[in-house]
Amino acid sequence: MASPPGAARLAALLLLALLAGPAASRFAPADNHLIACGATAPAVLPDGRRFVPDSGCASMTLRSAAPALPSAAPAAPAPAPPSPLHAAARVFSCHASYDLAVRRRGRHVLRLHFYPFSPALASARFHVGAGGFLLLHNFTASSPVVKDFLLPVDADVLVLTFVPEAGSAAFVNAIELFSAPEELVGDIATLVAADGVNRTDGLSSQVFETLYRVNVAGRKVTPFNDTLWRTWVNDEGFLVNKESSSSKAWSFGGRIAYPKDSRLMTREVAPDNVYNSARSVRSDGNLTWGFPVPARNRYLVRMHFCDIVSKALYQLYFSIYVNGHLAVKDFDISSTTGYLAYPYYIDYVVDVEDEGMLKLAIGGSKMSRPGEASGFLNGLEIMRMNKTGGGMDGDFPVVLDMGYLVSKGFREFARSLLCGLVFAGLFLVLVMLVLRLRTELKNNGTLWFSQSVDSGEGKLAKAYQLVPTKTDY
Ligand SMILES: *[C@@H]1O[C@H](CO)[C@@H](O)[C@H](O)[C@H]1NC(C)=O
Ligand SMILES: *[C@@H]1O[C@H](CO)[C@@H](O)[C@H](O)[C@H]1NC(C)=O
Ligand SMILES: *[C@@H]1O[C@H](CO)[C@@H](O)[C@H](O)[C@H]1NC(C)=O
Ligand SMILES: *[C@@H]1O[C@H](CO)[C@@H](O)[C@H](O)[C@H]1NC(C)=O
Repeated sequence: MASPPGAARLAALLLLALLAGPAASRFAPADNHLIACGATAPAVLPDGRRFVPDSGCASMTLRSAAPALPSAAPAAPAPAPPSPLHAAARVFSCHASYDLAVRRRGRHVLRLHFYPFSPALASARFHVGAGGFLLLHNFTASSPVVKDFLLPVDADVLVLTFVPEAGSAAFVNAIELFSAPEELVGDIATLVAADGVNRTDGLSSQVFETLYRVNVAGRKVTPFNDTLWRTWVNDEGFLVNKESSSSKAWSFGGRIAYPKDSRLMTREVAPDNVYNSARSVRSDGNLTWGFPVPARNRYLVRMHFCDIVSKALYQLYFSIYVNGHLAVKDFDISSTTGYLAYPYYIDYVVDVEDEGMLKLAIGGSKMSRPGEASGFLNGLEIMRMNKTGGGMDGDFPVVLDMGYLVSKGFREFARSLLCGLVFAGLFLVLVMLVLRLRTELKNNGTLWFSQSVDSGEGKLAKAYQLVPTKTDY
């Protein structure tokens, strides 16, 4: 009986089609490099993306002076790696670069996966640059980490360079480079400082490194459920006043509505799973989150709001504090969005000096009804901004050693020039052979390259008479 299994199969196919439904409307980036470094076979992730090995890919080349060793993770008895991307790495003993073809210039998401599966990798100390910009300076991946950048790309090739510190090696397990949606980060934001708030612009030329993505009161969101394959973690570990009786966690089963005409507020900004949950605070309370961050840096803080808390509009008013400074007082989200369950975000720029801790808070307002929710927050993103035009941590021109790249580039240029000359020579010979062949055929109808040196062409013909087709000369 083939029918029941057949029916089950059909049902399974239908289910698959249903599950794949939303995937059809998924964000399709113009550039999409997914590279499994050092791997021998493609790696398919649970989110469906396929990472190709870094050898033999047409739109990407790996340049390395010394052999860049593929390195396989130790087999048993070590536990299976958490991701297929962690099964192998590419290890560089000296400078090496990936040239990644860029079809559409503009902002790109760059993610570098580091999974140090051997002590040598865990202690490796190196620098990583992209497009001549230093992203990671004197970096060590002692534990598994994904470095997530948003950077403007203004060339047809993005050169991603790995530079080991003296006596060390560099490594990488996987690379993602894909076009970012235009609306992901705008050019302007609100600068929050001790002396008040100001408008700031120029964000679109900045490089951002995402340090935290937090789903407030919600579950961890994996790349499977995120429109841009991001990871969001729960906020509980960052709450400063956990025991606060004035706060409450919310989750929402309804539909998150997106403004139809808005190019700025789309599902790519944050997935529904982030807007589906929130933590609220009463009018007499404060809710504070604290994030350890490198001191003396500028940060972009994105706060995500979606009113899944209120039963009606105009019930909520709250204050937002960024790094202890009042960013907005009695914020009225209903007037801003005009609807309930509409996502919205605010971008703040803030300088963190010596504290090494970035505190974000929402505080209730007397304008809200006492005892009821007054303010809320759904999600948080904290991104470090570049310090100079040369690097995330400042300018280190010596580290990237562009001179090396130039001289290497020149060597390659010289080699390709030589190859070109040889090729041109061969082509010339071929043309002359064909010409000669035609006269030969005309003269005696044989496909034999004459040995007789009766003309200037004869010399060439002699030197290349390797393929006689007839011997009946
Ligand atoms: C990198 O860090 C190590 C250890 O802190 C230090 O010895 C080395 O000088 C640093 N290198 C650079 C280029 O900053
Ligand atoms: C994706 O999100 C849905 C809805 O929240 C959830 O049921 C599912 O477990 C999530 N899947 C993964 C792999 O995170
Ligand atoms: C909330 O915190 C801010 C900043 O720390 C403070 O000014 C405000 O008085 C606090 N509000 C309440 C109700 O505790
Ligand atoms: C960050 O880098 C960009 C170049 O991508 C540059 O235009 C900008 O001025 C830099 N930011 C700072 C604060 O130097």
